[in-house]
Amino acid sequence: MCGIFGHVGGRSDAAQVVLSGLRALEYRGYDSWGVAVSDGTLVQVDRRTGKIGVAVTELPPSGVGLGHTRWATHGAVTVENAHPHLDCTRRLALVHNGIVENHAELRQALENAGHRFRSQTDTELIAHLIEDALQLAAPGAERLLHATLAAFRALRGLNAIGVLDVGSGALAAAKNGSPLVLGFSADGHWLASDSAALLAHTRDLCFVGDGQAVLLTRERARLFEIDGGTELEPEIVRVAWDAQSAERLGHPDYMSKEIHEQPERLARLAVQAAPSVQALASSIAASEQVFMLGCGSSAHAALVAQHLFARRGRRITAVTASEFRHLQAFVAPGTLIVALSQSGETIDVLDAALLARTTGARIAALCNVEGSSLWRMADVVVPLDAGPERCVLATKSFTAQLALLLLTAHALDGWLAQGTRAVADAATDIASMLHGARRAAISAVARALRTRQHLFVIGRGASHALALETALKIKEVSYIHAEGLAGGELKHGVMALIEPGTPCIALMPHDDTETDLMSAAMQAKARGAELIGICPQAHPMFDHHIEAADLGDASAIVHAVPAQLLGYDLARLRGHDPDMPRNLAKSVTVK
Ligand code: AGP
Repeated sequence: MCGIFGHVGGRSDAAQVVLSGLRALEYRGYDSWGVAVSDGTLVQVDRRTGKIGVAVTELPPSGVGLGHTRWATHGAVTVENAHPHLDCTRRLALVHNGIVENHAELRQALENAGHRFRSQTDTELIAHLIEDALQLAAPGAERLLHATLAAFRALRGLNAIGVLDVGSGALAAAKNGSPLVLGFSADGHWLASDSAALLAHTRDLCFVGDGQAVLLTRERARLFEIDGGTELEPEIVRVAWDAQSAERLGHPDYMSKEIHEQPERLARLAVQAAPSVQALASSIAASEQVFMLGCGSSAHAALVAQHLFARRGRRITAVTASEFRHLQAFVAPGTLIVALSQSGETIDVLDAALLARTTGARIAALCNVEGSSLWRMADVVVPLDAGPERCVLATKSFTAQLALLLLTAHALDGWLAQGTRAVADAATDIASMLHGARRAAISAVARALRTRQHLFVIGRGASHALALETALKIKEVSYIHAEGLAGGELKHGVMALIEPGTPCIALMPHDDTETDLMSAAMQAKARGAELIGICPQAHPMFDHHIEAADLGDASAIVHAVPAQLLGYDLARLRGHDPDMPRNLAKSVTVK
């Protein structure tokens, strides 16, 4: 879940452009970072622990640079374990995203051969492997490529690597599993783990496939197959996103910007999404069974959809992707897998979809990142069209998922126009929640919860899934232990944790779950709980009320936003970074 960024070209400020590229990738992992350049004789490297923030680097001028921002898997968070790692000659620098499953035996063999290691990572061995392979490789422009291929073939696991070679002044990279994107521009070639990080330089991109490698020089960017080394023609696409859409646009952080984008993004989806939701609806109608899967917030969106479709007598099974393999026996031709993933790179989702495909399932994807692995793997793609989402927390991507699934449910019934109106109404209600008295009411609740360490969130039906999402948003960014549960389960155990003053958020849309949820909330109130009601109207039993419109099935979209704002305010009040919460990363590419 790390970020890789590289550049080779006519500029001399490679260190600075690589550092700003890493800043754009930092949501992928932010416990340490590093940049390496060539000074023509040796690699010069600058590595640090912590977030990049406003750091600058004093590395010498160079036309080639390579950098990395880390989410530690092997080896503690130290400067020695930060990437790039060097070989014994200090003429190679290497960065890595993934896990080398056979690192112990490879390292042992290299140490026995006399290589000196400086870190505790699984990564550094790759630099030494390439060092050895370079000795054996035929001289010439492709020497670095052949050495990189030889080293990469020795690795087991899902990995992406980038290597800078002082000798040739070139960059090479190889991948299977972890994402890599090439960028083409007038002043050179670019390498990054994510397309959004390249937008400041180019929109002409090539998405490197699994089992592929690249060799980048100032003049050329070449693509090869790892097995066999056959050269391929890079498929260059011009992506829709632009650099400005990836900026904060005056907001103090990305979370605030992305929450405030929702009304405009949802209104646009209501108008533009018809063709893709119709395609998904046809795929669902043509299938014998449907599994809808995702991780984290995407799994919660699948759970909300299970209720939306059930209300229409249509059965879909929502599954957490990392648990899907246990249901594999039920997958057969005629099965449709609807995979939900903002990033399109979440390994548990990719694995589950690939597994299902082996037994004849078709894959539909609701995905936000054009060209991502899931986007390219799927038979049917429904773009979330939420724009770049840089904050680790899923906000606008989550409401976009809910809106598209609601529109799909309506399209299946032949009532798409009604769905379109409902999504547009949700956009309007969210817009008024983001300002004025309604915004102030949410901030007041956050101030009341500021010092709490535990809270509960209850809901029934689709609101049970939203209770899980509400708890996740609060946990991720405020570090308060929030537990979401089905309202009916409270009395089967969790009630033991309710004592005077225990905060309990009740998601209470005006639907068939309202009465039962009200009685669960009253039972908690009777034990002294401090009740926060998220619903259309206030009620005397609530200590706090957060207004959320009654929009039938579209209520789910609106009810997702108070948690985003509560989490945001709590993070600010408790002094946490809302964009990069501790121990997390935006797209989870390791198991
Ligand atoms: C949500 O706020 C988290 N960032 C996380 O749970 C996320 O939803 C999960 O990792 C799935 O990501 P994806 O949608 O990119 O696959």
